[in-house]
Amino acid sequence: MKMKKKKSFKVLAIETSCDETAAAVVESRVSNKESGIKILSNVVSSQINLHRLTGGVVPEVAARAHVEKIIPVISKALLEARIQPEKIDIIAVTTGPGLIGSLLVGVNAAKTLAFVWNKPIIGIDHIRAHIYANFIGINSKPIPYRRSPVALPLFPALCLVVSGGHTSLILMRDHENFKTVGETLDDAAGEAFDKAAAILGLSYPGGPAIAAEAAKFSMAKSKFQTNSKLQNFKKTSTTKPLLSIIFPRPMINSPDFNFSFSGLKTALLYTVRDLKKIREREKAMLAAEFQQAIVDVLVKKTIRAAERYKAKSILLGGGVAANSLLRQELVLNVKSEKLKTKIFLPEAKLCTDNAAIVGTNACFCWEKAKKLDWRFLVSNPNLGL
Ligand code: KG4
Ligand code: ZN
Repeated sequence: MKMKKKKSFKVLAIETSCDETAAAVVESRVSNKESGIKILSNVVSSQINLHRLTGGVVPEVAARAHVEKIIPVISKALLEARIQPEKIDIIAVTTGPGLIGSLLVGVNAAKTLAFVWNKPIIGIDHIRAHIYANFIGINSKPIPYRRSPVALPLFPALCLVVSGGHTSLILMRDHENFKTVGETLDDAAGEAFDKAAAILGLSYPGGPAIAAEAAKFSMAKSKFQTNSKLQNFKKTSTTKPLLSIIFPRPMINSPDFNFSFSGLKTALLYTVRDLKKIREREKAMLAAEFQQAIVDVLVKKTIRAAERYKAKSILLGGGVAANSLLRQELVLNVKSEKLKTKIFLPEAKLCTDNAAIVGTNACFCWEKAKKLDWRFLVSNPNLGL
């Protein structure tokens, strides 16, 4: 199915790759007054409370919850955007990677709507969608953004996508050209946070729980001076530290851009086992050191890759990109390394799974897509860039 070329158009986007049922309406605007991507609605129904009971996502449970929520979530997205289906120009949906049971719910809902409403449909890669959190925003200058790209990332861009399922460094040369230059060899960074939280008896999802626990440690930080310089991990203390534990920074100096976080998780597990009983302040210290170890590795490798590929922009995406320490340290270290690379830090709610990023990705790629007919759309849990 063909879609007529229009200057401005509206996308209904659907995302169900893991444990968030999400739908959004985004508008791509090109006018003399303003240009760019505007979010008209962005509805996310989180399954966190459900998965907290099991300390992680059970695929079957996630898929069933998507089935219950998908129609109400899509209806709400249309209602909040104050838009009737006939005004939607294109439907976009995540086709992978992700949990197959979860993906199938969103893909089949999207295909059904495309069939009934007779709309073009485009499948979107979840990892790419995370990158497009960096392309949302309206440039209200009286010049179309194509001639005034100040607000948009410049290419080549080095993208760090860090989520519960992925930790990848991706080189983006333009909107069609994505290359993975490094990835995790075992656990993803978000997965490591989730498992570490379980080890420390903290709640799911682990990333925000570890960050909150680590924040408690900063109260005691004046007594325990941390030296987080990337090259030198020896912590110096003026008074006796709470615990003299330093976790490894796996693969931080390896010549490639890959990651490995499972050993770090094991180091935490053994530490907790050896301590037998951990006091509250020790728990906070362990959370802080664990978070710092992950951030140190992510920051150092991202900066090295940005230098190696002469990136003009560094883009963050994925749930872990919501982490405040990661954001701060990336900015500080890019500055101290005197890199000219511009860093883009999307709002935290656009880093975690949502459908606005799916719709935004569609705005930038539908024109080049070969097939926009629902008959050709399939879910692919192992979809690669
Ligand atoms: O992108 P996302 O919402 O879903 C996937 O595609 O996986 O990422 C979820 C992951 C979880 O592992 C969660 O613990 C982590 O992102 N996360 C965080 C933070 N917020 C979410 N990790 C560290 N710090 C955070 N503030
Ligand atoms: Zn995600």
